[in-house]
Amino acid sequence: MERFVFFGGKGGVGKTSISAAYAHKCARAGAETLLVSTDPAHSTADVFDQAFDDTPTPVDGYDSLEVLETDPEQEVTEHLMETKRALGDQVSASVVNEIDRQIELSHQTPGAHEAALFDRFIDIMQESDHDRVVFDTSPTGGTLRLLSLPEYLGGWIDRLIEKREASIDLYERAAIGDREPRRTALGDPILARLQGRRERFEFARETLRESATFVLVTNPDELSVRETARALDSLQDYELQVAGLVVNRLTPEPEPEEDGRGARYLRERVQTERERLRELETSLDPPVLATIETRVSEIKGSFLDDVAEDLDVSITV
Ligand SMILES: Nc1ncnc2c1ncn2[C@@H]1O[C@H](COP(=O)(O)OP(=O)(O)OP(=O)(O)O)[C@@H](O)[C@H]1O
Ligand SMILES: [Mg+2]
Repeated sequence: MERFVFFGGKGGVGKTSISAAYAHKCARAGAETLLVSTDPAHSTADVFDQAFDDTPTPVDGYDSLEVLETDPEQEVTEHLMETKRALGDQVSASVVNEIDRQIELSHQTPGAHEAALFDRFIDIMQESDHDRVVFDTSPTGGTLRLLSLPEYLGGWIDRLIEKREASIDLYERAAIGDREPRRTALGDPILARLQGRRERFEFARETLRESATFVLVTNPDELSVRETARALDSLQDYELQVAGLVVNRLTPEPEPEEDGRGARYLRERVQTERERLRELETSLDPPVLATIETRVSEIKGSFLDDVAEDLDVSITV
């Protein structure tokens, strides 16, 4: 399995539970594991009954397992401050206000959260020295579009550099004597920043294609299956690897001798879900790595071990 594993899927299908069980299983198999949570509702904290923050923190009672919880709202704010600061250093005071206004507007757009989070994911991939890093939530189609940025940005930067060099050349030729400081495109702070961004996204693109894989969590209902199909399309568009699907919340089958109304209802549900599972297996390419039944209570404590057992071993090594 790749070093970076992203769990994606529609809201509420069980990403947090399954990624926690998976991280636990990797750690138990001997891999130093980091589970990255991005959930503002602190669900990972609920799973382990422990508070986490933006630095890797060992989980009490679990060997080789750490959790890092990043807050999307805070990421957006930090991103905003960082961008303002960087630009503020480089432009005259008269345009700072207008730029501030524009940057604030841009951070209110729907993609801003995701872009800031994606940036944080890149940091974590660059900084972590864990054997395995499990992300509870994968970048969506919109964020993955950022992966095509290096090509786009690359061409743009190259053209900017050419223009800048041409103008510097003209300036040099027009200058009388050599009392003026020599201007070069190399030292240009704005170009340096753009180059930095380009390198960052190049790193992200390469790492995601070569060392990352995606696991999509779904429930046996039409809406989440459809969402899974869409997510698969965008992952394929960006040539990313998909390890497979985890189908969560299957209805448990009653014992054969049970024949009350409840048992009959359950049997019918099991039947419908089996058909849906078959459809899933025939219409979508990636393999179903695990099917997980609905437990009587939320997934934490011993249920976490239980679900970890249900996950295919081949995905932990
Ligand atoms: N197989 C299961 N059996 C019983 N409860 C489950 C199961 N899977 C998930 N749950 C419970 O359902 C709730 C939602 O699951 P979870 O938080 O893992 O979903 P999620 O996809 O991370 O949601 P979100 O999109 O809001 O982040 C949790 O309370 C969790 O304990
Ligand atoms: Mg969650």
